[in-house]
Amino acid sequence: MPDFVPLGRSGLKVSSLCLGTMNFGNENWGCDEPTSAKIIDRFLEAGNNFIDTANVYAGGRSEEIVGRAIAARRDEIVLATKGFNPQEGTGPNDRGNSRVNLTRSLEGSLRRLGTDFVDLYQVHSWDPTTPIEETMATLDDFVRSGKVRYIGCSNWQASQIVEGQWAAARNGGTPLVSLQPQYSLIVRDIEIDVLPTAARHGLGVIVWSPLGGGLLTGKHSKESSPSDSRFGKVASGDIWELMRRALFTDRNFEIVAAVGVVADRLHTTHTGVAVAWTLAQSAVTSAIIGPRTVEQLEDNLTAGSLELDADALKDLDRASRGPLTYLGFLARERG
Ligand SMILES: NC(=O)c1ccc[n+]([C@@H]2O[C@H](COP(=O)([O-])OP(=O)(O)OC[C@H]3O[C@@H](n4cnc5c(N)ncnc54)[C@H](OP(=O)(O)O)[C@@H]3O)[C@@H](O)[C@H]2O)c1
Repeated sequence: MPDFVPLGRSGLKVSSLCLGTMNFGNENWGCDEPTSAKIIDRFLEAGNNFIDTANVYAGGRSEEIVGRAIAARRDEIVLATKGFNPQEGTGPNDRGNSRVNLTRSLEGSLRRLGTDFVDLYQVHSWDPTTPIEETMATLDDFVRSGKVRYIGCSNWQASQIVEGQWAAARNGGTPLVSLQPQYSLIVRDIEIDVLPTAARHGLGVIVWSPLGGGLLTGKHSKESSPSDSRFGKVASGDIWELMRRALFTDRNFEIVAAVGVVADRLHTTHTGVAVAWTLAQSAVTSAIIGPRTVEQLEDNLTAGSLELDADALKDLDRASRGPLTYLGFLARERG
């Protein structure tokens, strides 16, 4: 059975695998409702309790699908969602971390999820146009109202984490308990500053894209991708085309090869090794897996019980560690 660990400086216990639901209901590169429901059932049946969605995933359909699938077992689940991005309107007050937008976003999420509370409400991004005091006071009010139990942030830099926690402390408000950043063997830059800051400020870390969007599964080559994959379906100018251009580099394919060597030695898969590597990092609380099929989910679940030995960790670190930078040097030498 999976282990449950406290999320940051809180009493909330979460599984080390979190189910990401960005694919659910997405007609272009995701899965339909019956498949999404099977993925949720199997994920929970395997003993996990943590599900992550957002107001904008599949235009709100992800929250609706999750809400219907968990309705009969709501209290067994740690349900996380996010606000910031516009979901319904397009006006100046329909995005960001203002009181207006977050309040409307939370109400929309609760409606689509069919629940009267979420366990973890996260702001999806930093908003440079809203005073941090307004954002933290709004999140604090959500907690006091009972509609939200814990609060977190996503895609914040180190200085922004400090600003948020200090604003909460100054005003006697609820602190953040979690950060949701991108992190994998191919995107490690948060190690320099963000992860140590999150730890110092009591934030659990829930990492997204532990497979680099699927690149680390080993199924892509530099020239081509399976036609049913998100990188195989890219349309000019869409997010996956941009990601493909950023990710499909010689260096990243060397990392994929190193993952393959470890997977062969341990008689497991690329996916198991890549997700297990994120979980082996002490700063990481949970990895958000994002399966599109039940078969992919099964493969991702293997990471939960896969112990990477010291040789594997050393080889993967050597293959994926970036060039030494000045900030990296300071972080390594002085913590
Ligand atoms: N906070 C944020 O800003 C943010 C941003 C992005 C994601 N997220 C969260 O993180 C979750 C995971 O992100 P992600 O989907 O990018 O994660 P990922 O684990 O890096 O990539 C998942 C994708 O890889 C492919 N895949 C997964 N397992 C596979 C397997 N065993 N064999 C072959 N292919 C496999 C599938 O795509 P194909 O089959 O299409 O190749 C799948 O959709 C999301 O659902 C969301 O909850 C958060």
